Amino acid sequence: MAAPVRRGEELELRIDSLAYGGNGVARLNGFVVFVRGALPGDRVSARVTKVKRGFAEAEAQEVLEGSGDRVEAPCPHFGICGGCRFQDLAYRAQAAAKEQQVLDSLVRIGRLPNAMVEPIVPAASLYHYRNKLEYSFTTTEDGIDLGFHRAGRWDEVIGLDVCLLTTDLGNSVREAVRDWAREEKLEPYDQATGEGYIRHLVFREGRNTGQALVVLVTAPGERFETGYFVDVLRRFPEVRSIHWAVNDTPAEHTNVPTKLLWGEDAIEERILGLRVRVRPGAFLQTNTEMAERLYSIAGEFAGLTGVENVFDLYCGTGTIGLSLAPAAKTVWGLEISEEAIACAIENAELNEIENARFFAGNVGQTLEELVEEAGSPDVVVVDPPRAGLAGKALRRLGELGAARIVYVSCNPTTLASDVKVLLEEFGYELVRCRPVDMFPHTPHVESVSLLEKRGL
Ligand SMILES: C[S@@+](CC[C@H](N)C(=O)[O-])C[C@H]1O[C@@H](n2cnc3c(N)ncnc32)[C@H](O)[C@@H]1O
Repeated sequence: MAAPVRRGEELELRIDSLAYGGNGVARLNGFVVFVRGALPGDRVSARVTKVKRGFAEAEAQEVLEGSGDRVEAPCPHFGICGGCRFQDLAYRAQAAAKEQQVLDSLVRIGRLPNAMVEPIVPAASLYHYRNKLEYSFTTTEDGIDLGFHRAGRWDEVIGLDVCLLTTDLGNSVREAVRDWAREEKLEPYDQATGEGYIRHLVFREGRNTGQALVVLVTAPGERFETGYFVDVLRRFPEVRSIHWAVNDTPAEHTNVPTKLLWGEDAIEERILGLRVRVRPGAFLQTNTEMAERLYSIAGEFAGLTGVENVFDLYCGTGTIGLSLAPAAKTVWGLEISEEAIACAIENAELNEIENARFFAGNVGQTLEELVEEAGSPDVVVVDPPRAGLAGKALRRLGELGAARIVYVSCNPTTLASDVKVLLEEFGYELVRCRPVDMFPHTPHVESVSLLEKRGL
């Protein structure tokens, strides 16, 4: 049907639900309008920003009647800071919306009208749950400061008094580094002009061990006294590992090689009893408590009895495979990042796990080689990035013909399209799907699904 709205038009809309990605969904005589900044149950006035063939996008201008699920956001930076979007939506409604998004994806994209999902596993902690924070330096009226991007802006960073997603220790370390940078009169790097010096602070915390790691990222040149910076951080006994990294590119990223300034080169986290080394750039799920829940569900779905050959594809630093290894005959991990594989091998040694081996490679291109080495798998766990089983990976996985696939997903839309192919072309059925909320107040939703090969 022709779009019943025009760009720039102001509409009055009732929001029915929350789409994956976090926009409110309204219907205008059946025509879908995605509304940024509106919550389910709200009546809003909204301005249309984009009109497509089957839907339009709009930006809420005013809440005319607030949803009964609206609550007071506890963070003083809410609405300005780009970190959290839904602190003002009751947590029960956030979790319900995420569960619905997983189901909707399976029904619409997966073409599974009878799909069922199990109740979402809600987050155990609504605040203070992140074990990794990456701050940018900026200038505010108080001088140099540390914070996050302003909501919707790549070129503006706001200073923070507090972040409710980190711990008291995390907030205190950020304040100490900010005060140090003010004292040293360091100049923040300006993304737009490429001028300035000090760029980012990364704070990582082993939540089950109490150990913390800090990385300072600057532009090239040594414009601070490293010994004094170390002294400032050594006031915190939890800080065990202090690094400095130089980013000489305009790109805003923190994953650059680091130089150890003081302490251990890595810290440790404990996940489901496993000791995990956390190096400055190593991937680790950022919510430790919920990673344990996620991995436990993956373990339950894998249903291991001690005789299985298990593949852990997209294994990162090997945490899922290593948590499964005691219940498996053998575990084979495959992951594109050589650095992550080095960590996985180190983690296997640290935990004296002898039946797990890890290889660096692209799943789509090297799965056949892995089968030559490892034999056919009985169970395959996949935990791909948001793009899902991209390239040749999906077909290669289907061709393996494993009795069970455990699909850990951070994007229900790619999960659904991958599941559709595995069901229609490779003879699998979707047996279970359990959404998990690892990131309250954000649009992210994870899930674990179990697929079984029919007729085995
Ligand atoms: C969501 S993470 C999974 C991490 C790990 N399972 C965990 O829980 O810690 C996805 C991983 O896939 C890796 N990756 C991305 N594309 C890949 C590819 N084509 N082949 C193999 N690994 C890939 C990334 O480097 C990343 O470590």
